[in-house]
Amino acid sequence: MKIGILTGGGDCPGMNAFIRSVTRSALNLRPGIEVWGILDGWRGLMEQSYRPINPVDTAGISSVGGTILGTVRVPELRTDMNLRQQILRNFIAEGFDALFVCGGNGSLHASCDLDQRLRAEGHAAPVLFTAASIDNDVANVYGTALGFYSAIRRSLEMMDWIRDTASAHRRVYIIGSMGRSSAYLPFYAGAASGAEYVIRPNEKVNYESLADMIEARERDTRIIVSEAYPKSLEEIRAILDHALERRNSRHEIRTVDMGYFQRGGQAAINDILRANWLGFQMVKSMLNDEGSAFFGAFNIGNAPNRLPLAEALDPSANHDDIPRDIIEMALALR
Ligand code: F6P
Repeated sequence: MKIGILTGGGDCPGMNAFIRSVTRSALNLRPGIEVWGILDGWRGLMEQSYRPINPVDTAGISSVGGTILGTVRVPELRTDMNLRQQILRNFIAEGFDALFVCGGNGSLHASCDLDQRLRAEGHAAPVLFTAASIDNDVANVYGTALGFYSAIRRSLEMMDWIRDTASAHRRVYIIGSMGRSSAYLPFYAGAASGAEYVIRPNEKVNYESLADMIEARERDTRIIVSEAYPKSLEEIRAILDHALERRNSRHEIRTVDMGYFQRGGQAAINDILRANWLGFQMVKSMLNDEGSAFFGAFNIGNAPNRLPLAEALDPSANHDDIPRDIIEMALALR
């Protein structure tokens, strides 16, 4: 029996823990199984780039950010049917009996497509998927994506650092956060770090009351801005500068972007433990011949949520905006 592991989309901490978990669970539960790493995400399947992995390859990697297998974005996969067919052909030619994927929405689409093509050709090999994305925007109703808590941890560190200088200079910092069109990363980073305000992607911001809030504060103000909010950090700065000028305010404004730093560094414990748990459960599911599925978990210990891949893609499986009661909690803690 031969299985492949693939990490796709934007890298994130937790991917390595997942690779380790699948590798070791498979080799311990089914001695003699062959475990192969697919290199550079879906491109590895397109270009037949794989290598065998053993337990030693995965030693000491659980908490390490990035992915030892590499990941490359392949946007053409969304539209290019020839590429999708090539992936199917290579997967079958290589003799894989199952594919374990962790990644974001693009990887979920690609997994679903490969699964459908395998079924159409009468192949039994399952595709088992779990979400790994700092954006936490993949079927998040059914589990938290690997990497999400690590990115909040990294954001918290950066928010603490910026507070030092903001407070020393009595400045306002407008701080960009990744997260695509999802509010999860910026909002949770704000809630964890006690940011004074978080601008969510679709929010109708009342800049006058934001300027009043800044003006009422003695020292620092940190405002996090979601990546998909339609104004740039500099545009927001110009609006607030103008509003503060009209108030004869002495507050100065600076901008900074947390950006790619949010994706790096050590994995959070919560991500490592969920990666361990999901990898182990997914291997057991494969050995029990339970077929293809999306797997989601909020924590270790409970049976993971298991959905057909196509259902995990349904918009109802994911919310991009923050539930109202969590927003209320953040407001109550200001
Ligand atoms: O999906 C993760 C993410 O980091 C997003 O938050 C961000 O919009 C995007 O990836 C950046 O992608 P890339 O690494 O391709 O520039």
